[in-house]
Formats: sequence, C-alpha cells, structure tokens
Amino acid sequence: YDSVVARIAVIGGDGIGPEVVEAGIRVLEVAVRPEPSLELEFERFPWGCEYYLEQGRMMPKDALETLSGFDALYLGAVGWPSVPDHVSLWGLLLPIRRGFDQYVNLRPVRLLRGVQSPLAEPGKLDLVVVRENTEGEYSDAGGRLHRGTPHEIAVQETVFTRRGVERIVRYAYEEAKKRRGLLTGATKSNGISITMPFFDEIFREVGEEFPEVEASLMHADALAARLVLAPEAFDVVVGSNLLGDILSEITAAACGAIGIAPSANLNPTGEHPSLFEPIHGSAPDIAGKGVANPSGAIWAASLMLEHLGHEAAAARVLVALEETLAEGVKTRDLGGEAGTEEFTDEVVRRLLP
Ligand code: NAI
Repeated sequence: YDSVVARIAVIGGDGIGPEVVEAGIRVLEVAVRPEPSLELEFERFPWGCEYYLEQGRMMPKDALETLSGFDALYLGAVGWPSVPDHVSLWGLLLPIRRGFDQYVNLRPVRLLRGVQSPLAEPGKLDLVVVRENTEGEYSDAGGRLHRGTPHEIAVQETVFTRRGVERIVRYAYEEAKKRRGLLTGATKSNGISITMPFFDEIFREVGEEFPEVEASLMHADALAARLVLAPEAFDVVVGSNLLGDILSEITAAACGAIGIAPSANLNPTGEHPSLFEPIHGSAPDIAGKGVANPSGAIWAASLMLEHLGHEAAAARVLVALEETLAEGVKTRDLGGEAGTEEFTDEVVRRLLP
C-alpha cells in the first residue's frame, strides 16, 4: 500500500478540553495501527482563553488560513470564566464553523451498553440529530437602540436562505436513506410565521426526491416531549440552528451524561476541513483534576476516522469504548471511579491486537 498521511489540527482549547483530546489522540493512534494505508499526523495549536488574555484574540488573524491545509480539525472545548462566553465562542468556534462552511452539525446519540439513561424506559435509543450550523437564528444581524433608557430595544434577525435550508434538509434525507429511512423535521411554524413555513415548504419539496424516506414535520415543543417519551420512534431529526441545538442536547442527556456525546461539524463538499469535538464544554469545576470523561472526545475521534474514509477503524473505536463502559469501567460522572487516564488505558487496551 501507499500510505496516506492524514494531517489533523488539534485545538485542545480550555479547561478539560486538552485533557480529553489527548485521550482521544492516544486512542486514534492505536486504532489506525492495523490500517497500513493510513497514517495520522497531529499538530497542536495553543488557542483559546489563555491565548486571548495574552494576545487579545482567541486565535491568530491567519488561523483559518493555517487550518485550511489540514484534513480534519479535532477540538476539545472553548470557554473559560475569565473571558465572556460570547467573546470566546465568536472568536474561535463560530469563525471556524462559518469560515469553513461546516453547514452540517451532526449529533449522533446512542445509549451505549453499561450506561444508564435518566429515562425510566428508554427503549432502544439510536438516532442522529442534523442541525443547521451556519445561519438561522444564530445570525449577528440586528442591534440595540436607546441603550440604558426605558425605551431600550433589542432586535436580532433570523436568516433562512433557500440554499441554506435546502442543503441541510437534503443532507438529512440522505442520512435517513442510509439508516432506517425515517426523517422528522423540527418546525415551529405555528408561532414563527414567516421563516418556519419557508423551512417546512423546502422540507417537503426536497422530500419529493426521496420517496423511500418516510418524512414528517413536527413542532419542536411536541417533538421535545416525544423525544423523551418515545425516543425509539426516531431515526434522523433535522432542525434549524437553534431548534437543532436544543433538541440535540435533550437527546444527548437522555443517553446518560454530557461527557459521552460527540459532534461533527461537516463541510460535506470537502472544500474545507471538517471539525470534530465532544459536545460538552470546558467544565471549569473539574478541570485539571484528571477526572474528566473522555468518552465524548473518543467518540468524536471515531466520527473523524469515518469522515476520513476509515470506517473499520472508526467502528473499532466505538466498540472498544462501548465494551469498556459495558464492563463497568467508568469515570466519576457515570458513578465510577476511573480517572481520565485509567479509562483511556482501558479503551486503548481493547484496541491492541
Ligand atoms: P460544561 O459542559 O463545561 O459543564 C457542565 C457540567 O457537566 C459541569 O458540571 C461539568 O463538570 C460536567 N461535565 C462536562 N463535561 C464533562 C466530562 N467530559 N466529564 C465529566 N463531567 C463533565 O458546560 P458549562 O459549565 O455550561 O460551560 C463551561 C464553559 O464551556 C463555558 O465557557 C461555555 O461557554 C463553554 N462551552 C463550550 C462548548 C464548546 O466548546 N463546544 C460547549 C459548551 C460549553
């Protein structure tokens, strides 16, 4: 074989971010050993809130240019109490998501063996939330008038484009076609009377290209309740930036703990690198103690391998992670006693030949 080198840019970020991505890197290195055709090369970038306090920016001006040469980006978490959250988010994560047109935020959830769901009867929980990642409610179009007076006004516009809605909805139909053929669109067209009916219209239009997918629209509030009451009824759920954000947190919580769930920010055209991360934040309350659950970062690493075209290695990582949990090795957040390193050792051990 000619070996292909995949170059991965690593942004550990803040708090437990670096702790969990280093765990993920250890797992990745072992997972690709049996793949003669793949070699991974990691380059670490010290960007985040500490960098901000020294340099006045979350990352250098030419950061996107630097990152654009990589095959994938692997991120820990961004945000620390010393820097306002909107500054850290808009200074690092959002410019990457938008600059690299990572318009799909893919959030798979599955109740792994050995993990207890907070739901009394979770049934079989195995679904994917596809969230629009570049427009919608998270726009910076708007402003504030009459600041500090009783007449103060704040306006923020929601921006839906035909191109933006079409491509995310089409991605979701494709995903449903690959899975169990069920797609639910999250809407709120009963209350939000202009943009949401537009979303619904396009959802139905694109659906005509996918007769094999059973698709329906559901108001996000009712959908939130259904996801708790009967999560087994769902396969793929697609939603706007805000609705997708909220619904994917509900499903992640139903799967046990925030430390487990991963997320992929995909640029499906391949024009720019995609970014893989655990969904949790920097967890200031446990940072530096060596007790963070690295499962979300490890699962994100598996998504990255899949994206790089190495499905077998991706599957091996997920199996090793699930076996570790199923055999009762758990971090504190899941009621166990293992530290980050000990847990990672166990996952690595299961990947060794
Ligand atoms: P968080 O996810 O950092 O923490 C919430 C709770 O979950 C804490 O009690 C924490 O200890 C626990 N937790 C989270 N991940 C864990 C893990 N892997 N293992 C064990 N326990 C874990 O959310 P929070 O506290 O709201 O945010 C802290 C900072 O992180 C903020 O600055 C926020 O903006 C940022 N953040 C960044 C995200 C990202 O980079 N994608 C996502 C969410 C928050």
